[in-house]
Amino acid sequence: MTYIPAANRYDRMIYRRCGTSGLKLPAISLGLWHNFGHDTPHDTKRAICQAAFDHGITHFDLANNYGPPPGSAEEAFGEILRTDFRGFRDELIISSKAGYLMWDGPYGEFGSRKYTIASCDQSLKRMGVEYVDIFYSHRFDPDTPLEETMMALDHIVRSGRALYVGLSSYNSEKTRAAAAILRDLGTPCLIHQPSYNILNRWVETDGLKTTLKELGIGSIAFTPLAQGILTGKYLKGVPQGSRASQGKSLDPAIITPRAIESVRKLDEIAKTRGQTLAQLALAWVLREGGITSALIGASKPEQVVDCAGAIANLDFTSQELAQIDQIAEEKDVNLWAKSSQTE
Ligand SMILES: NC(=O)c1ccc[n+]([C@@H]2O[C@H](COP(=O)([O-])OP(=O)(O)OC[C@H]3O[C@@H](n4cnc5c(N)ncnc54)[C@H](OP(=O)(O)O)[C@@H]3O)[C@@H](O)[C@H]2O)c1
Repeated sequence: MTYIPAANRYDRMIYRRCGTSGLKLPAISLGLWHNFGHDTPHDTKRAICQAAFDHGITHFDLANNYGPPPGSAEEAFGEILRTDFRGFRDELIISSKAGYLMWDGPYGEFGSRKYTIASCDQSLKRMGVEYVDIFYSHRFDPDTPLEETMMALDHIVRSGRALYVGLSSYNSEKTRAAAAILRDLGTPCLIHQPSYNILNRWVETDGLKTTLKELGIGSIAFTPLAQGILTGKYLKGVPQGSRASQGKSLDPAIITPRAIESVRKLDEIAKTRGQTLAQLALAWVLREGGITSALIGASKPEQVVDCAGAIANLDFTSQELAQIDQIAEEKDVNLWAKSSQTE
């Protein structure tokens, strides 16, 4: 059946300026890391993307390696662009990234000019688009001169392959250095994509959040729900079909009784605010203080709808914030710590 987007979609979302740029992003964005590979029926992918767009989620985040197999999420999204989203390209912000292992040999990962530009070309081909809106360096490469990676990003914009560039998981110091190079090249860094949620606050301790504000760079927080831990789903154990049950990126070993006790207390606070736990977790990421957009994942369209509802209440009392701080100890949920600490 032909998909017709909800007419009121832009009344259902709020849009925030990305740093000091002219680009606005939806407060909630959708990432296609999981549930867009060959392990998921195409109709589920379509339903998730349709639910997102119907709720004003205009930003879809991909990377070369999303799948499984790597590349298949971009292919699936390309199919959705050609069908359901046909005619809506100018209403969408599509991002992709290069940095993690994508193909064999010495040119298949990290930050060389050779890899970065070839990977961008492959992503455009898989999605069937002429350009992406944002192209990221997915991780800092300790062995390639930073200038080389940034010059590759600059070239990607100048050659029309992307409109803006971003950095992901670079620490504060490397972000400053990369942003200075990009500024000198005339392609300012639009956005930074770090992991950030109630249980993972490295962007605060590292100083990255302050740095981004100072440099006028926008931010999009990935894993804002700690891959699902910050939702009600693990309160009664690990449900069948959940990410933690699939042997993927969420190790069930970190969902300890102690972690669940914290999650239960957070759930109590969410209830007093009239929110689901997922909504509270997203509102916390988006609270006053600098994150432009919360980048969620979803395995069902209903989850997208629940998450989009977070924007109804983004304000916290200082008492609520203090309670959340007290409950939330850093859990071992930051899989990207190594990348952001690379010297
Ligand atoms: N730059 C990077 O290095 C990097 C790394 C990782 C991710 N990312 C980006 O960030 C995006 C989001 O990552 P993520 O998927 O880990 O984010 P997340 O939002 O923290 O976790 C998503 C998972 O939470 C569960 N969920 C979502 N909404 C829910 C709801 N309302 N109620 C109950 N459960 C809910 C679902 O789990 P189930 O599947 O168990 O149902 C879903 O798959 C990725 O798609 C990708 O675009 C970037």
